[in-house]
Amino acid sequence: MEERIVMTRTVESVVEEVFEILTRTGGEQYFGEAVSKLAHAEQCAWFAEKAGADDELVLASLLHDIGHLLEHEMAVRDERVGVVNHDELGEMWLLERGFGPRLARLVGGHVDAKRYLTATNAAYVDRLSEASKETLVLQGGPMDEADAAAFATEPELRDILRLRSWDEMAKDPELVVPDIESYRRRMVAYLASLSR
Ligand SMILES: [Fe+2]
Repeated sequence: MEERIVMTRTVESVVEEVFEILTRTGGEQYFGEAVSKLAHAEQCAWFAEKAGADDELVLASLLHDIGHLLEHEMAVRDERVGVVNHDELGEMWLLERGFGPRLARLVGGHVDAKRYLTATNAAYVDRLSEASKETLVLQGGPMDEADAAAFATEPELRDILRLRSWDEMAKDPELVVPDIESYRRRMVAYLASLSR
């Protein structure tokens, strides 16, 4: 008899899966930086929190690099920078699990934000870490004029750029911030509010 496997995801199982991934693999060093991937995520969320970001933006900040932590057939890997397409992969993976389109877009746009800023803001390039400058090349380099003009019309542009600025700051080995557990209830409430 043929067996049918029915995948059912609940809010709780999604949050469990996300936390399991972030805590299991997040202890690895964040490429070329002095912090772990988990500390990077926690610091990014904390900067969002301190800036008064809404819950969805805080959670997007926490999850923006989850694409780096996924074992996925669509992951394009490079030994120096990890998953090259981690932005798109994270966006797709989060959408599949019931995260909202805005959160997914904030995650999916964080690499293009760097490509946009390096094309439009000369001072921004100096603020990038060495590792981030190196990954920029692999990510396609600064946008050309047409792509930058198109990105400038992105509805979530402002928050994508805010997330990007916290991403740049979230690489401080001395900074102690609230740990990931402090976001668990918020993630459950957020997902539950969307699945209603
Ligand atoms: Fe990041």
